[in-house]
Amino acid sequence: MRLMPSEVARRFLGFAAGAVILISTLGATAAAQSQRLASTPPMGWNSWNHFSEKVTESDVRATADVIVANGMRDAGYIYVNIDDSWEGQRDAQGNIHPNGKFPDMKALADYVHSKGLKFGIYSSPGPKTCAGYEGSYGHEEQDANTYAQWGVDYLKYDLCSYESIMKLWDPSQDPRKALAMMQQAYEKMHQALVNTHRPIVYSLCQYGIDSVWKWGPKVGADLWRTTDDISDTYRSMALIGFSQAGLEKYAGPDHWNDPDMLEVGNGGMKPDEYRTQMSLWAMLAAPLLAGNDLSKMDDTTKSILMNREVIAVDQDRLGIQGTRVEPPQIWMKPLSGGAKAVAIFNYVLDDEANPITLQFADLGFRGPVHARDLWAHKDLGTLRGSYTVIVPRGGVVMLRLWE
Ligand code: GLA
Repeated sequence: MRLMPSEVARRFLGFAAGAVILISTLGATAAAQSQRLASTPPMGWNSWNHFSEKVTESDVRATADVIVANGMRDAGYIYVNIDDSWEGQRDAQGNIHPNGKFPDMKALADYVHSKGLKFGIYSSPGPKTCAGYEGSYGHEEQDANTYAQWGVDYLKYDLCSYESIMKLWDPSQDPRKALAMMQQAYEKMHQALVNTHRPIVYSLCQYGIDSVWKWGPKVGADLWRTTDDISDTYRSMALIGFSQAGLEKYAGPDHWNDPDMLEVGNGGMKPDEYRTQMSLWAMLAAPLLAGNDLSKMDDTTKSILMNREVIAVDQDRLGIQGTRVEPPQIWMKPLSGGAKAVAIFNYVLDDEANPITLQFADLGFRGPVHARDLWAHKDLGTLRGSYTVIVPRGGVVMLRLWE
């Protein structure tokens, strides 16, 4: 796990404006070459949250099998992404090879593709990844070409040890210079990916440093992590998810805020809390990358990950990230066709379920509204003025409303 002292975060968060100026020239090229590979938020699976460094080729094959068999692929979960710990050594020519857990990456990619899925991988602009494996520093073109030869469709590019190269920790370093170096490193891999002529979704992971949402598109990113790592607790998930309020103007088709992967099904939260993550991520138009062991899901986990009505909110073609309309936690997301998704969260950690009242006027409705409950899968008929619901502790009620 990578640690980021708040001192460093504070130091760098203040330099967004300068950074935007610094990258304005390199951004022009990158933006022009954006490949438009993510018109809706990417959906799939990533190995890290459950398997961490233990992931093997057979886990990935089993995931590809089950994601098709259980209906997840058809619900939209298309990417099967290996995170950190696949990397082996470089040969005399500098070509990266997978380690013993992944004997044949091309064969694995072919297998994933044969299932109608896409294949993702992970690296770092630094010499080492966060878990200490081989990074892409100095080998960007070569690695991008290797990924393209293997058949990679998605790259998560994680800052990790590049923090030392840019001297992120060094008080004598000029923060503007450090930021320019970071952006150039991300742009460098973007160009390398573009040069392969293979469409590869480009996912930035640098934990939101320097308001990455302001410059991510200029270095060719399709999505960017907005926060530090999530963990499988309600506190971690809620802190990350609810802190996304205000970032909505930076997201849209082909450029998404990424509040990290799903923890649904990993065992650390209650079903109501996992429903909160799924609902909140959908309201945020966040990438939906399942992070659990798909071969061992109970029915509740399946019902959460495969709630197609909630997925439809996430994947709505307008691609508008929802906003928080009212404390404590009422969120609204405009949908295509004039409907609105509304999520009412009980974020207050009371022992009791809380009644919460929704005023339709606060959501921009004038007359009576039609409503559907997206977790109960039930039409609520026509409602007038307001709607009061009991929201379970740590849970959510999610509605689709239209006039
Ligand atoms: C960082 C990232 C995580 C994961 C690990 C892998 O911590 O933020 O999502 O990729 O590295 O080492």
